[in-house]
Amino acid sequence: MADWYTNFVNSGVGTTVTKQLGLPRPAVLRRYEPGQPLLPGPVVVGSAGQGRLRDTVTTVLRDAGVTVLSPVTADGDTDGEKYGAIVLDATGLTGPADLAAAHDFLAPALKRLRPSGRVVVLADPPAAADSPAQAAARQAIDGLTRSIGKELRDGSTANAIYVPEGAEASVASPLTFFLSGRSAYVDGQGVTLSAADVPTGQDDDRPLGGKVAVVTGAARGIGAAIAEVMARDGAHVVAVDIPAAGDSLAKVANAIGGTALQLDITADDAPQRLVEHLKERHSAGGRKGADIVVHNAGITRDKLLVNMDAARWNSVMAVNLQAQLDITRALLDSDALNPGARVVAVSSQSGIAGNRGQTNYAASKAGVIGMVRAWAPEFAERGATINAVAPGFIVTEMTAKMPFGTREIGARLNSLQQGGLPVDVAETIAWLSQPGAAGVNGQTVRVCGQSLLGA
Ligand SMILES: NC(=O)c1ccc[n+]([C@@H]2O[C@H](COP(=O)([O-])OP(=O)(O)OC[C@H]3O[C@@H](n4cnc5c(N)ncnc54)[C@H](O)[C@@H]3O)[C@@H](O)[C@H]2O)c1
Repeated sequence: MADWYTNFVNSGVGTTVTKQLGLPRPAVLRRYEPGQPLLPGPVVVGSAGQGRLRDTVTTVLRDAGVTVLSPVTADGDTDGEKYGAIVLDATGLTGPADLAAAHDFLAPALKRLRPSGRVVVLADPPAAADSPAQAAARQAIDGLTRSIGKELRDGSTANAIYVPEGAEASVASPLTFFLSGRSAYVDGQGVTLSAADVPTGQDDDRPLGGKVAVVTGAARGIGAAIAEVMARDGAHVVAVDIPAAGDSLAKVANAIGGTALQLDITADDAPQRLVEHLKERHSAGGRKGADIVVHNAGITRDKLLVNMDAARWNSVMAVNLQAQLDITRALLDSDALNPGARVVAVSSQSGIAGNRGQTNYAASKAGVIGMVRAWAPEFAERGATINAVAPGFIVTEMTAKMPFGTREIGARLNSLQQGGLPVDVAETIAWLSQPGAAGVNGQTVRVCGQSLLGA
């Protein structure tokens, strides 16, 4: 399913009509395809502050086969080579005056950014600053990056990576993700890294090779896309959904050479049945069970709170939150996760912004964010990670049922002026599941095109 309006705008007649009427003109986004180069052009790398990550960034980019250029100095020079991406290393800021260097680097560089370009800013986490001036400068990076995201056009994005001292080895994975087509619909976000043992030698064509990935709610929509992307990246997928969705579940699983497991995740015995399945099928040769678990299954039962009966409240909480807690706890307690396991939980923009008529849904999805944050230290001790992904407006069967006006407004209220596709959520989840993403833990990454809601 594509965003019809984006297709229309980028067709011959659509371009003319929308230009004349002054309507939003969303770009066709650069999305990942296997074998694609990381970027369509060279990267310019600049710094503000001490820039302690300069060498790390250059090595990551060269290893990825990208040409690294030095900054242009002449303001307004637009004749030179166009950039695929701009990377600013703003680590080591001491106070707001250091930010002038960020301006001096970015202003001319942005004039040369290609369509579907990338801006990535690396900085120290504001919470760890030594002084108010330093904290102010670090926090300023957040406002700077988000505003660049809003100023960029043509499908370009801007994101920030916050790198504490000692977490330098964690930089490669988020940096390449944000530069790549995998992050097409991730815009205006910030990810804070942790120090971690990051395995080297990941096969970037099949980063999930040899992994067993459980995906709940895999019979359709975003879950089916997650299953497909995981399989494309090399994983064997255990696709889970309710028995009533058995036929479509089997189709999804068969198409990707995975396994279908009919399971209502809210059933009392669901955690145990999943553990048993993993132990029976995937514990040979010293393995324990799953490498990746994606808690994607979710439901809505919308009503204003004043009209909401207990059944609506309870069913949404049970599927969207309690099942995630119970299944994760059972997998940990039964030792059914392999070393370096990755758990990714699907939250929602509604869990960040709140939404009229969705108190139950928003509460459950906010709960998911709290869950991954609280569990992260225990996962880190096991060399594992747990993160959440919060989709914004995604073009699915669910959103196709919305009234036309509400749907179209919902789809345009973001910096990329379009709804995301299920594959955009799937790519972000697949990235967080990679071995190289070991230094991303307890985070919630929004896949929302920099939605204005809850921004
Ligand atoms: N579509 C969006 O725009 C959007 C936005 C934000 C978040 N999300 C979240 O993304 C996830 C997937 O959404 P979607 O749009 O693909 O929804 P969907 O309704 O198309 O698919 C959800 C799947 O979960 C399954 N499921 C429901 N209850 C289950 C249970 N008890 N046990 C096992 N499986 C169960 C359903 O059968 C279905 O196949 C959900 O968690 C949803 O809340 C979606």
